[in-house]
Amino acid sequence: PQLTIQVEKEVTSTNDLLKKASIDGVDQPVLLIAENQTKGRGRFGRDFISNAEKGIYFSLLLNVQKKFNELPSYTILSAAALAAAIEKKTEKNCQIKWVNDLYYQNKKIAGILSEATTDFETQSITSIVIGVGLNFLMSPAAIPTELQEKVGSLFTEQPEITRNQLIAEFLNQFFDMLQDKEQNFLTEYRQRSFVLGKQVTFKQQGKICRGVAKAIGNTGELIVTLDTGGEVALSSGEISLSSI
Ligand code: BTN
Repeated sequence: PQLTIQVEKEVTSTNDLLKKASIDGVDQPVLLIAENQTKGRGRFGRDFISNAEKGIYFSLLLNVQKKFNELPSYTILSAAALAAAIEKKTEKNCQIKWVNDLYYQNKKIAGILSEATTDFETQSITSIVIGVGLNFLMSPAAIPTELQEKVGSLFTEQPEITRNQLIAEFLNQFFDMLQDKEQNFLTEYRQRSFVLGKQVTFKQQGKICRGVAKAIGNTGELIVTLDTGGEVALSSGEISLSSI
């Protein structure tokens, strides 16, 4: 199928607009790129600041029509594709903090929000929207003081590569990984992990748990060896690294 690309100066949230388009039955796939977002959203209902001097904000709408249990992990795949695209185009190495935050020089530079539209009657997913936000060019001064320790930017000075070139490479990587029967994206993801082997903390049923991130399973789950003994497999949620 052909990809329709739409570019806007300012939108509320590229994810919100494409989710609405999917409900309206728009013929997919669609890529919506925005220069700015007034209501950019992150995971867990957080805001995503979307006014970098030069940020990359886009969402990809795909018509998937698959049963819940037949889906590849789009979240894992998108993070692997973004890291691979950055590496190929800029020769900079990024790490992926489970599930799908990208880190460069120990600071978060990108986040991904994937949202699926589901049909519970048929136990299937009908469409998926993958939203990517990346601080492409943001001078340290443009980052709010309280975030400076945690948030960074891929570039701090105008690079030769354009934002569009990076988005195009993301799409190449994404569709290549999606079509790859061997699921090599998992290997790509694991190789760039920012968490494997590290001490992590997370909440489970209201309780704070600690352990060491041991492995990433075949459906993208994070396997943690608990300090209290035993193992858990986390399928979603958020973890903190002791050093962050
Ligand atoms: C996160 O870090 O929690 C995820 C951030 C995802 C941000 C992107 S920007 C494009 C798309 N539109 C949104 O409203 N959010 C995603």
